[in-house]
Amino acid sequence: MRQSHHRSVVLGTGSELPARVVTNAALEELVDTSDEWITTRTGIKERRVLEEGKGNADMAHRAAVRALHDAGVDPKDLDAIIMGTVTADYPFPSSACVLEDMLGARKAFSFDVNAACSGFLNALAVADSMIRTGMIRHALVVGSDALSRLLNWKDRTTCILFGDGAGAAVLGSVNDGHRGVLSAKLRTDGSYVKTLYVPAGGSLKPASAETVKKNEHTITMNGKEVFKVAVRSMEEISREALDEADIDVEQVSLVIPHQANLRIITALAERLKIPMSKVMVNLDRYGNTSAASVPIALDEARREGRIRHGDIVLLNAFGAGFAWGAAVVKF
Ligand code: ACO
Repeated sequence: MRQSHHRSVVLGTGSELPARVVTNAALEELVDTSDEWITTRTGIKERRVLEEGKGNADMAHRAAVRALHDAGVDPKDLDAIIMGTVTADYPFPSSACVLEDMLGARKAFSFDVNAACSGFLNALAVADSMIRTGMIRHALVVGSDALSRLLNWKDRTTCILFGDGAGAAVLGSVNDGHRGVLSAKLRTDGSYVKTLYVPAGGSLKPASAETVKKNEHTITMNGKEVFKVAVRSMEEISREALDEADIDVEQVSLVIPHQANLRIITALAERLKIPMSKVMVNLDRYGNTSAASVPIALDEARREGRIRHGDIVLLNAFGAGFAWGAAVVKF
Protein backbone atom coordinates (compact mmCIF):
# COMPACT_ATOMS: atom_id res chain seq x y z
CA MET A 1 0.00 0.00 0.00
CA ARG A 2 1.25 3.51 -0.80
CA GLN A 3 2.54 5.62 2.11
CA SER A 4 0.95 9.01 1.34
CA HIS A 5 -2.09 9.94 3.41
CA HIS A 6 -3.69 12.00 0.66
CA ARG A 7 -5.97 9.82 -1.43
CA SER A 8 -8.60 10.38 -4.05
CA VAL A 9 -12.06 9.14 -3.15
CA VAL A 10 -15.08 8.72 -5.38
CA LEU A 11 -17.47 11.45 -4.23
CA GLY A 12 -20.16 10.77 -6.83
CA THR A 13 -21.00 9.02 -10.10
CA GLY A 14 -23.38 9.53 -13.01
CA SER A 15 -24.15 8.04 -16.39
CA GLU A 16 -26.09 8.68 -19.56
CA LEU A 17 -27.42 6.32 -22.20
CA PRO A 18 -28.97 7.65 -25.42
CA ALA A 19 -32.71 6.95 -25.74
CA ARG A 20 -32.56 5.09 -29.05
CA VAL A 21 -32.47 1.31 -28.51
CA VAL A 22 -31.17 -0.98 -31.28
CA THR A 23 -32.09 -4.61 -30.61
CA ASN A 24 -30.46 -7.70 -32.06
CA ALA A 25 -33.66 -8.18 -34.06
CA ALA A 26 -33.11 -4.75 -35.66
CA LEU A 27 -29.57 -5.80 -36.66
CA GLU A 28 -31.00 -8.91 -38.34
CA GLU A 29 -32.50 -6.45 -40.83
CA LEU A 30 -29.10 -4.92 -41.59
CA VAL A 31 -26.66 -7.85 -41.73
CA ASP A 32 -26.70 -11.65 -41.98
CA THR A 33 -26.87 -12.36 -38.25
CA SER A 34 -29.31 -13.61 -35.63
CA ASP A 35 -30.34 -12.77 -32.09
CA GLU A 36 -29.29 -16.31 -31.18
CA TRP A 37 -25.74 -15.91 -32.60
CA ILE A 38 -25.20 -12.51 -30.96
CA THR A 39 -26.61 -13.65 -27.60
CA THR A 40 -24.61 -16.88 -27.36
CA ARG A 41 -21.33 -15.42 -28.70
CA THR A 42 -21.40 -12.09 -26.85
CA GLY A 43 -24.24 -11.88 -24.30
CA ILE A 44 -25.48 -8.66 -25.92
CA LYS A 45 -29.25 -8.23 -26.49
CA GLU A 46 -29.48 -4.54 -27.33
CA ARG A 47 -27.44 -1.35 -27.43
CA ARG A 48 -28.04 2.43 -27.51
CA VAL A 49 -27.23 4.72 -30.40
CA LEU A 50 -26.68 8.47 -30.12
CA GLU A 51 -29.13 10.52 -32.17
CA GLU A 52 -27.89 12.46 -35.20
CA GLY A 53 -26.88 16.03 -34.50
CA LYS A 54 -25.60 15.18 -31.01
CA GLY A 55 -21.94 14.64 -30.09
CA ASN A 56 -19.94 12.83 -27.49
CA ALA A 57 -19.86 15.83 -25.15
CA ASP A 58 -23.68 15.97 -25.05
CA MET A 59 -23.75 12.52 -23.47
CA ALA A 60 -20.76 13.30 -21.25
CA HIS A 61 -22.48 16.48 -20.05
CA ARG A 62 -25.57 14.63 -18.80
CA ALA A 63 -23.43 12.02 -17.05
CA ALA A 64 -21.23 14.74 -15.53
CA VAL A 65 -24.17 16.79 -14.21
CA ARG A 66 -25.51 13.68 -12.45
CA ALA A 67 -22.08 12.82 -11.01
CA LEU A 68 -21.54 16.37 -9.73
CA HIS A 69 -25.01 16.42 -8.18
CA ASP A 70 -24.38 13.04 -6.55
CA ALA A 71 -21.05 14.33 -5.21
CA GLY A 72 -22.43 17.68 -4.07
CA VAL A 73 -19.61 19.41 -5.94
CA ASP A 74 -20.09 22.66 -7.87
CA PRO A 75 -18.58 22.66 -11.40
CA LYS A 76 -16.76 25.86 -10.42
CA ASP A 77 -14.83 23.87 -7.82
CA LEU A 78 -13.43 21.40 -10.36
CA ASP A 79 -9.68 21.66 -10.90
CA ALA A 80 -9.53 19.18 -13.79
CA ILE A 81 -11.75 17.42 -16.31
CA ILE A 82 -10.16 14.33 -17.82
CA MET A 83 -12.10 12.39 -20.42
CA GLY A 84 -11.33 8.97 -21.86
CA THR A 85 -12.68 8.91 -25.40
CA VAL A 86 -11.83 7.95 -28.98
CA THR A 87 -14.87 9.70 -30.43
CA ALA A 88 -14.38 13.34 -29.47
CA ASP A 89 -16.76 15.88 -31.02
CA TYR A 90 -13.92 17.26 -33.19
CA PRO A 91 -10.41 16.10 -34.20
CA PHE A 92 -9.44 19.01 -31.93
CA PRO A 93 -9.87 20.54 -29.42
CA SER A 94 -10.74 17.87 -26.89
CA SER A 95 -14.25 16.84 -25.89
CA ALA A 96 -13.19 17.62 -22.33
CA CYS A 97 -12.89 21.30 -23.37
CA VAL A 98 -16.38 21.20 -24.90
CA LEU A 99 -17.64 19.66 -21.67
CA GLU A 100 -15.85 22.25 -19.55
CA ASP A 101 -17.74 25.00 -21.37
CA MET A 102 -21.08 23.18 -21.06
CA LEU A 103 -20.56 22.82 -17.30
CA GLY A 104 -19.21 26.34 -16.80
CA ALA A 105 -16.22 24.83 -15.01
CA ARG A 106 -14.13 27.96 -15.41
CA LYS A 107 -11.33 27.00 -13.02
CA ALA A 108 -10.63 23.58 -14.54
CA PHE A 109 -8.02 22.50 -17.06
CA SER A 110 -9.37 19.81 -19.38
CA PHE A 111 -8.03 17.21 -21.74
CA ASP A 112 -8.93 13.92 -23.41
CA VAL A 113 -7.12 10.64 -22.97
CA ASN A 114 -7.04 8.23 -25.91
CA ALA A 115 -6.77 4.70 -24.58
CA ALA A 116 -9.84 3.24 -26.31
CA CYS A 117 -11.87 0.98 -23.99
CA SER A 118 -9.32 1.52 -21.22
CA GLY A 119 -9.82 5.31 -21.41
CA PHE A 120 -11.69 5.67 -18.11
CA LEU A 121 -9.05 3.65 -16.23
CA ASN A 122 -6.31 5.82 -17.73
CA ALA A 123 -8.17 9.04 -16.91
CA LEU A 124 -8.80 7.79 -13.36
CA ALA A 125 -5.11 6.94 -12.87
CA VAL A 126 -3.99 10.37 -14.11
CA ALA A 127 -6.50 12.22 -11.92
CA ASP A 128 -5.59 10.06 -8.91
CA SER A 129 -1.88 10.85 -9.33
CA MET A 130 -2.56 14.57 -9.57
CA ILE A 131 -4.72 14.46 -6.44
CA ARG A 132 -2.16 12.47 -4.46
CA THR A 133 0.65 14.88 -5.32
CA GLY A 134 -1.53 17.80 -4.18
CA MET A 135 -1.63 19.37 -7.67
CA ILE A 136 -5.45 19.29 -7.69
CA ARG A 137 -8.28 18.67 -5.20
CA HIS A 138 -11.33 17.88 -7.33
CA ALA A 139 -11.38 16.08 -10.68
CA LEU A 140 -14.18 15.06 -12.98
CA VAL A 141 -13.20 11.80 -14.65
CA VAL A 142 -15.29 10.80 -17.65
CA GLY A 143 -15.52 7.87 -20.05
CA SER A 144 -17.67 8.75 -23.05
CA ASP A 145 -17.84 7.22 -26.50
CA ALA A 146 -20.11 7.07 -29.52
CA LEU A 147 -18.60 4.13 -31.40
CA SER A 148 -21.77 3.96 -33.51
CA ARG A 149 -20.12 6.81 -35.45
CA LEU A 150 -17.17 4.53 -36.33
CA LEU A 151 -19.12 1.43 -37.34
CA ASN A 152 -19.61 -0.13 -40.72
CA TRP A 153 -23.26 -1.15 -40.39
CA LYS A 154 -22.71 -3.74 -43.13
CA ASP A 155 -19.92 -5.55 -41.24
CA ARG A 156 -21.56 -8.21 -39.03
CA THR A 157 -18.29 -8.96 -37.23
CA THR A 158 -18.17 -5.48 -35.63
CA CYS A 159 -21.53 -3.66 -35.82
CA ILE A 160 -23.22 -6.07 -33.41
CA LEU A 161 -20.73 -5.42 -30.61
CA PHE A 162 -20.78 -1.73 -29.83
CA GLY A 163 -23.08 0.92 -28.36
CA ASP A 164 -22.95 4.55 -27.20
CA GLY A 165 -22.94 6.01 -23.70
CA ALA A 166 -21.14 8.05 -21.06
CA GLY A 167 -20.17 7.63 -17.42
CA ALA A 168 -18.52 10.00 -14.96
CA ALA A 169 -17.03 10.06 -11.49
CA VAL A 170 -16.07 12.99 -9.30
CA LEU A 171 -12.84 12.40 -7.39
CA GLY A 172 -11.91 14.45 -4.36
CA SER A 173 -8.85 14.64 -2.15
CA VAL A 174 -9.16 13.30 1.42
CA ASN A 175 -6.59 13.02 4.15
CA ASP A 176 -7.39 9.38 4.87
CA GLY A 177 -4.98 6.58 4.09
CA HIS A 178 -7.63 3.87 4.36
CA ARG A 179 -10.07 4.50 1.54
CA GLY A 180 -10.23 5.79 -2.02
CA VAL A 181 -8.14 4.67 -4.99
CA LEU A 182 -5.76 2.15 -3.41
CA SER A 183 -3.92 1.31 -6.64
CA ALA A 184 -4.06 1.85 -10.38
CA LYS A 185 -2.06 -0.04 -13.00
CA LEU A 186 -1.87 0.70 -16.72
CA ARG A 187 -0.23 -1.04 -19.65
CA THR A 188 -0.06 -0.98 -23.46
CA ASP A 189 1.36 -3.17 -26.23
CA GLY A 190 1.65 -1.17 -29.44
CA SER A 191 2.55 -4.22 -31.51
CA TYR A 192 -1.22 -4.85 -31.69
CA VAL A 193 -2.15 -1.44 -33.18
CA LYS A 194 -3.60 -2.97 -36.34
CA THR A 195 -5.46 -5.78 -34.59
CA LEU A 196 -8.15 -3.25 -33.65
CA TYR A 197 -8.14 0.19 -35.29
CA VAL A 198 -9.71 2.72 -37.61
CA PRO A 199 -7.41 2.83 -40.67
CA ALA A 200 -8.27 6.29 -42.07
CA GLY A 201 -9.12 9.76 -40.84
CA GLY A 202 -5.82 10.45 -39.06
CA SER A 203 -2.63 12.11 -40.33
CA LEU A 204 -1.36 8.95 -42.01
CA LYS A 205 -4.40 8.52 -44.21
CA PRO A 206 -6.52 11.68 -44.12
CA ALA A 207 -10.15 11.58 -45.23
CA SER A 208 -10.63 11.45 -48.99
CA ALA A 209 -13.37 10.30 -51.34
CA GLU A 210 -11.35 7.11 -51.78
CA THR A 211 -11.07 6.32 -48.04
CA VAL A 212 -14.79 6.94 -47.59
CA LYS A 213 -15.60 4.65 -50.52
CA LYS A 214 -13.45 1.89 -49.02
CA ASN A 215 -15.09 2.25 -45.57
CA GLU A 216 -11.71 2.94 -43.99
CA HIS A 217 -13.19 5.27 -41.36
CA THR A 218 -14.77 2.37 -39.56
CA ILE A 219 -13.55 -0.16 -36.97
CA THR A 220 -11.39 -2.98 -38.32
CA MET A 221 -10.81 -5.83 -35.90
CA ASN A 222 -9.43 -9.33 -35.48
CA GLY A 223 -11.94 -10.35 -32.80
CA LYS A 224 -10.37 -13.71 -31.92
CA GLU A 225 -6.99 -12.12 -31.21
CA VAL A 226 -8.57 -9.37 -29.10
CA PHE A 227 -10.48 -11.99 -27.11
CA LYS A 228 -7.40 -14.07 -26.33
CA VAL A 229 -5.12 -11.24 -25.24
CA ALA A 230 -7.94 -9.45 -23.35
CA VAL A 231 -8.61 -12.31 -20.92
CA ARG A 232 -4.93 -12.95 -20.19
CA SER A 233 -4.02 -9.25 -19.82
CA MET A 234 -6.96 -8.29 -17.63
CA GLU A 235 -6.22 -11.18 -15.30
CA GLU A 236 -2.54 -10.20 -15.01
CA ILE A 237 -3.13 -6.52 -14.42
CA SER A 238 -5.96 -7.17 -11.94
CA ARG A 239 -3.59 -9.32 -9.89
CA GLU A 240 -0.92 -6.58 -10.05
CA ALA A 241 -3.39 -3.92 -8.89
CA LEU A 242 -4.58 -6.16 -6.02
CA ASP A 243 -0.97 -6.91 -5.00
CA GLU A 244 -0.05 -3.22 -4.98
CA ALA A 245 -3.09 -2.45 -2.84
CA ASP A 246 -2.23 -5.38 -0.56
CA ILE A 247 -5.73 -6.82 -1.08
CA ASP A 248 -6.59 -10.52 -1.47
CA VAL A 249 -9.03 -11.61 -4.17
CA GLU A 250 -11.43 -12.81 -1.43
CA GLN A 251 -11.64 -9.28 -0.03
CA VAL A 252 -13.04 -7.91 -3.30
CA SER A 253 -16.78 -7.18 -2.95
CA LEU A 254 -17.42 -6.41 -6.61
CA VAL A 255 -15.56 -6.55 -9.93
CA ILE A 256 -16.51 -3.99 -12.54
CA PRO A 257 -14.95 -5.19 -15.78
CA HIS A 258 -15.04 -3.59 -19.20
CA GLN A 259 -18.25 -4.79 -20.87
CA ALA A 260 -17.08 -6.22 -24.21
CA ASN A 261 -18.23 -9.82 -24.25
CA LEU A 262 -19.86 -11.99 -21.57
CA ARG A 263 -17.49 -14.83 -22.49
CA ILE A 264 -14.47 -12.59 -21.82
CA ILE A 265 -15.96 -11.58 -18.45
CA THR A 266 -16.78 -15.15 -17.34
CA ALA A 267 -13.33 -16.38 -18.42
CA LEU A 268 -11.73 -13.56 -16.42
CA ALA A 269 -13.87 -14.31 -13.34
CA GLU A 270 -12.93 -18.00 -13.55
CA ARG A 271 -9.22 -17.20 -13.77
CA LEU A 272 -9.44 -14.78 -10.84
CA LYS A 273 -11.57 -17.30 -8.92
CA ILE A 274 -14.26 -14.71 -8.31
CA PRO A 275 -17.91 -15.90 -8.47
CA MET A 276 -20.08 -14.22 -11.11
CA SER A 277 -22.38 -13.03 -8.29
CA LYS A 278 -19.57 -10.56 -7.48
CA VAL A 279 -19.17 -9.37 -11.08
CA MET A 280 -21.11 -6.45 -12.57
CA VAL A 281 -22.64 -7.23 -15.97
CA ASN A 282 -24.83 -4.87 -17.99
CA LEU A 283 -23.59 -5.50 -21.54
CA ASP A 284 -26.84 -7.29 -22.37
CA ARG A 285 -28.49 -3.84 -22.41
CA TYR A 286 -25.71 -1.59 -23.72
CA GLY A 287 -23.15 -3.66 -25.65
CA ASN A 288 -19.56 -2.45 -25.59
CA THR A 289 -19.63 1.29 -24.91
CA SER A 290 -15.81 1.59 -25.06
CA ALA A 291 -14.42 4.06 -22.46
CA ALA A 292 -17.91 4.50 -21.01
CA SER A 293 -18.51 0.90 -20.02
CA VAL A 294 -16.69 0.86 -16.66
CA PRO A 295 -18.09 4.18 -15.32
CA ILE A 296 -21.64 3.32 -16.50
CA ALA A 297 -21.43 -0.03 -14.70
CA LEU A 298 -19.90 1.65 -11.63
CA ASP A 299 -22.75 4.15 -11.51
CA GLU A 300 -25.39 1.43 -11.94
CA ALA A 301 -23.76 -0.70 -9.25
CA ARG A 302 -23.85 2.21 -6.80
CA ARG A 303 -27.47 3.04 -7.61
CA GLU A 304 -28.48 -0.61 -7.25
CA GLY A 305 -26.92 -0.66 -3.77
CA ARG A 306 -24.25 -3.14 -4.80
CA ILE A 307 -21.47 -0.95 -3.36
CA ARG A 308 -21.59 -0.09 0.32
CA HIS A 309 -19.31 1.95 2.56
CA GLY A 310 -16.07 0.03 3.10
CA ASP A 311 -16.48 -2.22 0.04
CA ILE A 312 -13.45 -2.96 -2.10
CA VAL A 313 -14.11 -2.76 -5.84
CA LEU A 314 -11.85 -3.97 -8.63
CA LEU A 315 -12.14 -2.11 -11.95
CA ASN A 316 -10.49 -3.42 -15.10
CA ALA A 317 -10.56 -2.75 -18.83
CA PHE A 318 -8.96 -3.74 -22.11
CA GLY A 319 -9.09 -2.22 -25.57
CA ALA A 320 -7.43 -0.99 -28.75
CA GLY A 321 -3.72 -0.26 -28.58
CA PHE A 322 -3.75 -2.72 -27.01
CA ALA A 323 -4.22 -0.68 -23.84
CA TRP A 324 -5.41 -2.10 -20.55
CA GLY A 325 -5.61 -1.28 -16.88
CA ALA A 326 -6.99 -2.09 -13.45
CA ALA A 327 -7.70 -0.16 -10.27
CA VAL A 328 -8.66 -1.10 -6.73
CA VAL A 329 -10.98 1.35 -5.01
CA LYS A 330 -12.20 1.26 -1.40
CA PHE A 331 -15.54 3.03 -0.93
N1 ACO B 1 -23.61 -13.14 -36.95
C1 ACO B 1 -23.53 -14.40 -37.43
N2 ACO B 1 -22.36 -14.98 -37.70
C2 ACO B 1 -21.23 -14.28 -37.50
C3 ACO B 1 -21.26 -12.95 -37.01
C4 ACO B 1 -22.50 -12.38 -36.73
N3 ACO B 1 -22.63 -11.14 -36.25
N4 ACO B 1 -19.99 -12.51 -36.91
C5 ACO B 1 -19.19 -13.52 -37.31
N5 ACO B 1 -19.94 -14.57 -37.67
C6 ACO B 1 -19.50 -15.88 -38.15
C7 ACO B 1 -18.09 -15.85 -38.70
O1 ACO B 1 -18.09 -15.46 -40.05
C8 ACO B 1 -17.66 -17.29 -38.52
O2 ACO B 1 -18.21 -18.05 -39.57
P1 ACO B 1 -17.34 -19.26 -40.22
O3 ACO B 1 -17.12 -20.21 -39.08
O4 ACO B 1 -18.24 -19.77 -41.27
O5 ACO B 1 -16.07 -18.62 -40.70
C9 ACO B 1 -18.37 -17.73 -37.23
O6 ACO B 1 -19.45 -16.78 -37.05
C10 ACO B 1 -17.49 -17.70 -36.01
O7 ACO B 1 -16.81 -16.44 -35.97
P2 ACO B 1 -15.67 -16.14 -34.93
O8 ACO B 1 -15.04 -14.84 -35.24
O9 ACO B 1 -14.81 -17.37 -34.80
O10 ACO B 1 -16.56 -16.01 -33.60
P3 ACO B 1 -16.07 -15.82 -32.13
O11 ACO B 1 -16.64 -16.86 -31.28
O12 ACO B 1 -14.59 -15.54 -32.04
O13 ACO B 1 -16.82 -14.46 -31.72
C11 ACO B 1 -16.44 -12.13 -31.42
C12 ACO B 1 -16.51 -13.27 -32.40
C13 ACO B 1 -17.80 -11.96 -30.76
C14 ACO B 1 -16.07 -10.85 -32.17
C15 ACO B 1 -15.38 -12.43 -30.34
O14 ACO B 1 -14.19 -12.88 -30.94
C16 ACO B 1 -15.09 -11.26 -29.46
O15 ACO B 1 -15.93 -10.79 -28.72
N6 ACO B 1 -13.84 -10.74 -29.48
C17 ACO B 1 -13.48 -9.61 -28.72
C18 ACO B 1 -13.86 -8.39 -29.47
C19 ACO B 1 -13.84 -7.16 -28.62
O16 ACO B 1 -14.16 -7.21 -27.46
N7 ACO B 1 -13.51 -6.05 -29.24
C20 ACO B 1 -13.56 -4.80 -28.64
C21 ACO B 1 -12.39 -4.55 -27.77
S1 ACO B 1 -12.63 -3.10 -26.96
C22 ACO B 1 -12.09 -1.71 -27.85
O17 ACO B 1 -11.03 -1.21 -27.62
C23 ACO B 1 -12.96 -1.10 -28.89
